[in-house]
Amino acid sequence: MVRPVTKAVIPAAGLGTRFLPATKAMPKEMLPVVDKPAIQYVVEEAVAAGLVDVLMVTGRNKNALENHFDRAWELERTLEVKGDTGRLEQVMAATALADVHYLRQGDPRGLGHAVLKAKQHVGDEPFAVLLGDDIIDEQDTLLRDMIAVHGERDASIIALMEVEPEDARKFGIATVEALPGVEDVVRVTDLVEKPAPGTEPSRLAVIGRYVLKPEIFEVLERTEPGKGNEIQLTDALLELARNGLAGGVYGVVFRGRRFDTGDRLDYIKAIVQLASERDDLGAPLREWLKDFTASY
Ligand code: G1P
Repeated sequence: MVRPVTKAVIPAAGLGTRFLPATKAMPKEMLPVVDKPAIQYVVEEAVAAGLVDVLMVTGRNKNALENHFDRAWELERTLEVKGDTGRLEQVMAATALADVHYLRQGDPRGLGHAVLKAKQHVGDEPFAVLLGDDIIDEQDTLLRDMIAVHGERDASIIALMEVEPEDARKFGIATVEALPGVEDVVRVTDLVEKPAPGTEPSRLAVIGRYVLKPEIFEVLERTEPGKGNEIQLTDALLELARNGLAGGVYGVVFRGRRFDTGDRLDYIKAIVQLASERDDLGAPLREWLKDFTASY
């Protein structure tokens, strides 16, 4: 019997240097995407996939994160007295979402190190990792599909998305083998973290969703620092993939919508796109965008 996936780990310890000075005193995960902090989209996605135990591996400035997922009694009381039930519900939604735990990463030694920090909380169970920079459209069932593939194959599962060759240097890139008769699930045979331009073995980039078997922890413990002198999750996954350890690694090829909030330009695009589709903001924003673009 394959053990069910019930826990999500969200690394949230990055320094957010690309967004300075906005992130001087606030974690980048709290940057608003329209009117919700980016991290809330990610927690909502975990919850939608049935994962209500969420561990955030945080760094400095974690207070804002903790406060966001905690009760805000004074604010709730003020909204209640005003009779503003709409906003009251929105404020309380983040609190009721999930059972959120926090852990400090300590030394920022890379994504692999952040995931290894979750070992004790996760224990001997498969678990999901969601990277806060990636927002997956709420209509897409990527994480749920990955959990289903994990259930079928009892292996670690990564999410892959086709990118333009010039963007490959920003991602882990996978070499894969098709599975006969199966669409959009592939076997991963090789992985390279952020290849030098022109050396990428494929266009299939690793995006920020993983379903991992607990054996990854043993591998991470002996993984030496790699690219950028950081302990790379990609390198640990490569060891599982190459040696077929703990069932090896499979990729779910994602063809839906992913918003990258880790890059300033993509972050602005994400806000414009998501706001354009909102019932409350979409129509006037689209109208204004037409005039605005026409004036350039
Ligand atoms: C991390 C991973 C990389 C992956 C990317 C997805 O890199 O190391 O393999 O492709 O997330 O967003 P980061 O963007 O944190 O540097």
